[in-house]
Amino acid sequence: MKIKIIFWILIAIFLIIQFIPSGRPEVKKDNPKDLLANNIVPDEIANMLKTSCYDCHSNETVYPWYAYVAPVSWLVSRDIRKGHEKLNFSEWENLNKIKKAEHLDSMSDELESEEMPLPIYLLMHSNAKLTPEQRQTLIDWTGDFADSLFE
Ligand code: HEC
Repeated sequence: MKIKIIFWILIAIFLIIQFIPSGRPEVKKDNPKDLLANNIVPDEIANMLKTSCYDCHSNETVYPWYAYVAPVSWLVSRDIRKGHEKLNFSEWENLNKIKKAEHLDSMSDELESEEMPLPIYLLMHSNAKLTPEQRQTLIDWTGDFADSLFE
């Protein structure tokens, strides 16, 4: 009897929390200031950025179904909001050269230390995992691209 009541209370809580807004950033498909739209980036690099970084660092997030189910939706939304705050490839051309170079340098650091893509993301997106070679290719590109800004 008691177990049944606890079960229904949990179900009720689960249903009620679905009404709490998750603060999920909205998806925008038209991003005229996007990094990839405005620069010549090799396909290999563009694909890696799209697959491993764009869900959290652009306005073009592809939300999985569980991003709509609380409480997971709160965690997903928070990571994307925080990711956008730090770096948003959809707003790239709004940055000046110095800022761009700083971001590229910081990308290199995050890749080097294997802090990005966020490990929790890789649990559900195994295709976003980067091999050591891919990591190195991206790191090299951040350096080359930063240099090209000042040519
Ligand atoms: C699951 C979401 C997610 C993915 C995928 C992701 N990031 Fe992040 N990224 C974040 C969050 C959240 C932060 C902010 C971390 C913090 O404030 O502690 C962040 C921060 C950063 C920063 C700023 C670090 C700093 O402290 O200044 C850089 C650079 C970065 N990410 C690069 C990348 C790159 C490059 C990729 C792809 C290889 C990537 N991220 C993939 C969520 C993500």
